Amino acid sequence: MNRRVGILVSLLLAGCLSALSAMPIVELGLLPKPAKVTLREGEYFCYNPHGRVVCDESVASYVGEHLKGGALAPNIIIRRNAALGLPAEGYVLSVEGGGVLLEGVDRQGVLNGFHTLLQLFPQGVYGGNYSEFCTIPCLRIIDYPAHSYRGQHLDVARSFIPIEEIKEFISHLAHHKINHLHLHLTDDEGWRVEILSHPELTEVGAWRGGDSPVKAVYGSFEERYGGYYTQAQLRELVEFARQRGVEIVPEVDLPGHSLTIGKIHPEILCPVERDLSATGGYGVQNVWCVAREENYRLLEDILGEICDIFPSEYIHIGGDEVATSYWRDCPHCLALYKKEGMTSYNQLEQHFLNRLTEILARNGKKAAMWNEATLGGNLSRDVRIHCWEGFAESQTVAEAGYPTVVMAGSSFYFDMRQSKNEDGHNWAGVVTLEKCYSTNLTDMGFSPRAKRSVVGFSGAFWSELLLPHSERYESYLEYQTFPRICALSEVCWTSEDDRSWEDFSARLDSHKGRLKAMGISYRRGAPPKPAGRQITPAMKVTTSLPMSNENALAKLSAYANDWGYRTTRTCYDGDWILYEFDKPINNVTVELTTGYRHVTRGVFPSGVVEISRDGEYFEEVARLHNGSAEVSLTRPTKAIRLRSTVTANGDRYVFVQYPIIRRLK
Ligand code: ACM
Ligand code: ZN
Repeated sequence: MNRRVGILVSLLLAGCLSALSAMPIVELGLLPKPAKVTLREGEYFCYNPHGRVVCDESVASYVGEHLKGGALAPNIIIRRNAALGLPAEGYVLSVEGGGVLLEGVDRQGVLNGFHTLLQLFPQGVYGGNYSEFCTIPCLRIIDYPAHSYRGQHLDVARSFIPIEEIKEFISHLAHHKINHLHLHLTDDEGWRVEILSHPELTEVGAWRGGDSPVKAVYGSFEERYGGYYTQAQLRELVEFARQRGVEIVPEVDLPGHSLTIGKIHPEILCPVERDLSATGGYGVQNVWCVAREENYRLLEDILGEICDIFPSEYIHIGGDEVATSYWRDCPHCLALYKKEGMTSYNQLEQHFLNRLTEILARNGKKAAMWNEATLGGNLSRDVRIHCWEGFAESQTVAEAGYPTVVMAGSSFYFDMRQSKNEDGHNWAGVVTLEKCYSTNLTDMGFSPRAKRSVVGFSGAFWSELLLPHSERYESYLEYQTFPRICALSEVCWTSEDDRSWEDFSARLDSHKGRLKAMGISYRRGAPPKPAGRQITPAMKVTTSLPMSNENALAKLSAYANDWGYRTTRTCYDGDWILYEFDKPINNVTVELTTGYRHVTRGVFPSGVVEISRDGEYFEEVARLHNGSAEVSLTRPTKAIRLRSTVTANGDRYVFVQYPIIRRLK
């Protein structure tokens, strides 16, 4: 069964060099930290005239990609040994004078051990051009994971991510022993998975902006943009991930977050009329009607194909953030509600999700759902629950006995900003590397029963900010997820008692060299402060938009509230926001923002910046880009006006901000 993938090279040296002083374990920079590492005397010199890699067939081609010859000709045996007496996915890695023996209890164990072995080699091994002489310390590692679900979620619905980038991301996850990629394939902003029986879902729903029925709410407002994955591409992606020990868990987000499919098939929605003046006529109804029987036939088609593409045991069917007010106003949903004697709309959601769970079961699959799905009170304990809201919700769900994946936003949402003044969301706070790393169920008060239900942890990356940041970052995805995924990896892998922030930080320092060698443009540190001293010249803010707070304009005029203030409706063509200065300002840069300051939402999707010397005659000096602009003023300026040139931004509001003014040197 074993297959030789190594090559022979004509070099003479082999074996253990004389004993060198043992290096401290932390210097190996192994990450995630293994359960047990014992250093031995000596080192193994990785050249051997008869060097060869004898490898378990099931991982041979993947191993071959990394150890593909060049000057590296080590003696390595990689094999399965179910009798190791370790938990699932465990491995033993022994480096001795004569070579390396890696044994895993199962295929996943072999891969986990291989990813540790790679960390012992010079970092060039990740770049595929490895050609250095090297030694690795003689040692023995006995290792296994604390949790079976080690996950990362990736939203490809809000911003489309090309398949090659997903592959790269999967490779990086594998090197961190993350074994699940939760692929969020559909949402309000896009439908990314080809459904052969309903090609319109991607023909129409994979595109937003421009003349698409799906409005852009996060950038590229005027041009149609997007993309989707064919089933052939997804099957190839599944195999690529499997090779690396990563299972793809697909998500179709239901019954909420369904604006896109609702635009294509309005008949799936509850027949309710809404006043759309707040959204400038743009319908934002995004919830499936529970009572419409034909809906389940459409979902049977869709989920049947999803089950066929993805071999995962679980299919994620959503269940989060359902706007139940549509059900309340739907005669059919109300009739069902009454017929079934329901007492809350959560039960109506549960009815819907239970029907889908039956469809999945007919396809040989189990259901995974977001934590709100449990609120109906009668969900099968076979359903795996992904807890995104917080640790309190995670604890309740785990205590109730559901297999629980903890992905609380305050520790694991990698769309949150990493320091106060960086881009990113912050509804769950600033998620620093240390905050992510320090997640500890015991400290959070999880009972032994609740802890037993926790199958693992997962990071999340929601991609609404990806597209608007694509110009400024080499990879906003990598910037936001690394090195936080390094911390996640250890939270998932290493037992709580064995983790320490100081120890992790020291190992991360060496691991960063590996990240670089992998080609990851990880976050190096907080971005530099913008040049110039911020000033607050006296001014008055006014606007044509109705504000939701009667003090809003006075507060903004006083440069108060970093968050800005919401209006009570979206923008119409011609709406304006005016900043009038008591005394003309000059020799300054002015940062002008509509929408949230660090999140491109609630903006003027298209508009202009106009300035005036006298407060009466205005001239256009810039266009808004993703709702913002920066202008440099080199002559006395009495007023600045932002003017919308479109109606509707996909939301029910605009955020009005004060300008940030910096004195030029
Ligand atoms: C979620 O963040 N709504 C799952
Ligand atoms: Zn309905």
